[in-house]
Amino acid sequence: MILVTGGAGFIGSNFVLEWCKRQANQGDERLLVLDCLTYAGNLENLAQVSEEGRFDGRVLFSRVDIRDQAAMAALETEFTPRAIVHFAAESHVDRSIHGPQVFVETNVLGTLNLLQWGRKLQDIVGDRFRFLHVSTDEVYGSLQPSDPAFSESTPYAPNSPYSASKAASDHLVRAWHHSFGLNTLTTNCSNNYGPFQFPEKLIPLLITRAIEGKKLPIYGDGLNVRDWLFVTDHCDGILSVLEKGRTGEVYNIGGDSERTNLAVVEAVCLILDQLRPKPSGSYRDQIEFVRDRPGHDRRYAINAAKIRDELGWAPAESFDSGLIKTVKWYLEHPQWVERVKTGAYREWLDKQYAVVDRSGSNTASNL
Ligand code: NAD
Ligand code: TYD
Repeated sequence: MILVTGGAGFIGSNFVLEWCKRQANQGDERLLVLDCLTYAGNLENLAQVSEEGRFDGRVLFSRVDIRDQAAMAALETEFTPRAIVHFAAESHVDRSIHGPQVFVETNVLGTLNLLQWGRKLQDIVGDRFRFLHVSTDEVYGSLQPSDPAFSESTPYAPNSPYSASKAASDHLVRAWHHSFGLNTLTTNCSNNYGPFQFPEKLIPLLITRAIEGKKLPIYGDGLNVRDWLFVTDHCDGILSVLEKGRTGEVYNIGGDSERTNLAVVEAVCLILDQLRPKPSGSYRDQIEFVRDRPGHDRRYAINAAKIRDELGWAPAESFDSGLIKTVKWYLEHPQWVERVKTGAYREWLDKQYAVVDRSGSNTASNL
């Protein structure tokens, strides 16, 4: 069994779906999805691997908060996964500026709890045990236009509470390898986009607001640069590292697709103008420059030579092909968007879990 934390979030759920697709007809390894279902976690993302809300025996779900040591201890008595793939985190920079506390609690202390469980698991499972920590390129800080892209040896220089908390967790992972011999792997990836991304992040925010006729807010001068990677390419990279990566190593993952935010919003508008034209004018007319994010990193860029050369990984999607897929997905799933925006899935959740919570059990279930 493999434990996937944060498996109901954006990248985690894409990872679970991808893993199930690949496992179909081969092997009988199971996935245990562990997620406390914050605003960003949505079991509907996993509907394809569950029938009428019930997971089949291959994917189990457990609603557990990685900050909760008692709940984690209960899991330890039930399951002995041979690997942990750790996605669970608070992930939005703007939220981290408004409320940093939970970022430290989940991203740092939650990771600590998992690392400690990882040591016990490695004692039982032996040397094939692996702890894969999913991190971000934001730990490396901000680049000037002419700087070389981030490599695995770029010094850490996090600038937001989010990236500082992720940097701290990366350091813990490194230390658990060096001090305790834990078989760790760390991936630092660039900005992801694709299906199931919560519409607070730039690309889904732009798509959903555009079709609602709302303004498209671009921070500052719109010339901040991000390196974009389609989410299934990230999942593919994680699977390569899990299978073939050298323990104790760090692998950067990126799409070699640097774009200014202005270029991103223009590309989204162009696709929407073609797929869902307005009666008159272009979606570009909705672009509005707004006050900048405090401490806004200017540029991120990833040098992905190590994972490419060592593990043979390369992205399958270009920025343009991935963006068309993404825009189509949001246009085809208005109910998903509506439900996450109104929080309707959370009302369902509260109702669904009232029974479980009353019975005092939160361990793995076929929901
Ligand atoms: P997300 O916010 O969409 O999902 C996070 C998931 O973690 C949610 O399902 C949430 O319910 C769960 N979670 C949060 N706190 C938890 C807790 N205390 N206990 C248990 N579960 C908890 O995030 P994402 O965009 O899918 O990112 C996943 C991971 O990938 C994060 O670690 C993030 O730092 C990293 N990452 C993200 C990007 C990106 O562009 N989104 C890029 C590189 C790395
Ligand atoms: P975001 O999706 O929040 O990812 P991150 O900050 O982790 O890179 O933002 C991507 C870029 O888009 C970033 O430079 C901030 C910018 N941005 C806007 O211009 N407007 C917005 O409304 C949002 C959410 C982000």
